[in-house]
Amino acid sequence: MKKLLVTGASGFLGWNVFKEQSEDWRLIGTWNQHKDGLRPGAENYQLDLLEKDAVWKCLKEINPDALVHLAACSDTNFCEENPEKSRALNVEATATLAEMCADRHVHFLFTSSEQVFDGKKEAYREEDEAAPQNEYGRQKLEAEQLVRAIYPEAGIVRISVMYGMASSARPGFLQKWLDAWQHFFPVKAFYDEYRSFLGGASAARGVFHLLGQQASGTFHIGGDRGLSRYDLAILVKERFKLEHAPVEICSQKDVQMPAFRPPRLVLDNSLIASTGFQPMPLEAELSSLAEEFRLPPPFSEN
Ligand SMILES: NC(=O)c1ccc[n+]([C@@H]2O[C@H](COP(=O)([O-])OP(=O)(O)OC[C@H]3O[C@@H](n4cnc5c(N)ncnc54)[C@H](OP(=O)(O)O)[C@@H]3O)[C@@H](O)[C@H]2O)c1
Repeated sequence: MKKLLVTGASGFLGWNVFKEQSEDWRLIGTWNQHKDGLRPGAENYQLDLLEKDAVWKCLKEINPDALVHLAACSDTNFCEENPEKSRALNVEATATLAEMCADRHVHFLFTSSEQVFDGKKEAYREEDEAAPQNEYGRQKLEAEQLVRAIYPEAGIVRISVMYGMASSARPGFLQKWLDAWQHFFPVKAFYDEYRSFLGGASAARGVFHLLGQQASGTFHIGGDRGLSRYDLAILVKERFKLEHAPVEICSQKDVQMPAFRPPRLVLDNSLIASTGFQPMPLEAELSSLAEEFRLPPPFSEN
């Protein structure tokens, strides 16, 4: 079986990649500080991507057929306030990995973000001009440009903001909402922040789809449509059967954040759809999460 090395396996998407699995790949995942972020039983390797020698040793030892690079400083506010520290991982370590993979002829898939766009268009296609509005987006764009220059056969997948479940080391925002509701706290949700929210399972399946095709070039994976965070919260309540869970509607302007967040960032999936991949419909993925991670009584009304 082919070997797939997954950097950042202890992160949100890494957890989902290991949950989804693929019969085509033996997965080996790296973690740095949070072994508890891994899916239980995941074959793993501790690696600090900022240590070049260790990265080279890892690639030599594991000798993967492909590498999907998920490790990142993915917190936009952290990147804004710590540009040098976050750049070392998001840009420099990505370029190093691309170089090493090119050298060893290991297929390389880099995960980028919707944040490379400025939010002025209804929905973004791959060829649209990138114009990031925050440090994280600028770092992701710079990393994309380096990956294309260093390893033209590499794949780059821009992902929309993800919802779903992961380990307690890296809970996504949906998990935080459910935790808040379980303790009878209200959840604040922006009515003026639109995203094509993507389920973690769909994102993981999209990654396997691109790896299966040894795709090179740039692809978008967003959810099936754009909607506001507030509308998403209402849908989550409905699917998790939490009709009394409190949601406070608010504006981005009501919350002070170090990083600017474009109000609308929606990715157009037409290109990846033309290769035979579609994310699960939002309602279906939420229902499946609700089925698997039902809240315990007494809060859940069922
Ligand atoms: N989350 C989203 O909604 C979203 C949306 C669009 C794009 N993306 C992109 O998708 C990818 C996956 O994101 P994610 O949300 O799964 O990330 P995440 O949950 O923030 O996880 C970050 C991962 O990076 C690892 N890491 C951090 N510093 C490291 C270092 N010095 N050396 C090695 N590993 C290190 C962490 O390992 P430890 O915890 O073990 O230290 C962790 O596994 C990223 O490229 C991100 O930019 C994410």
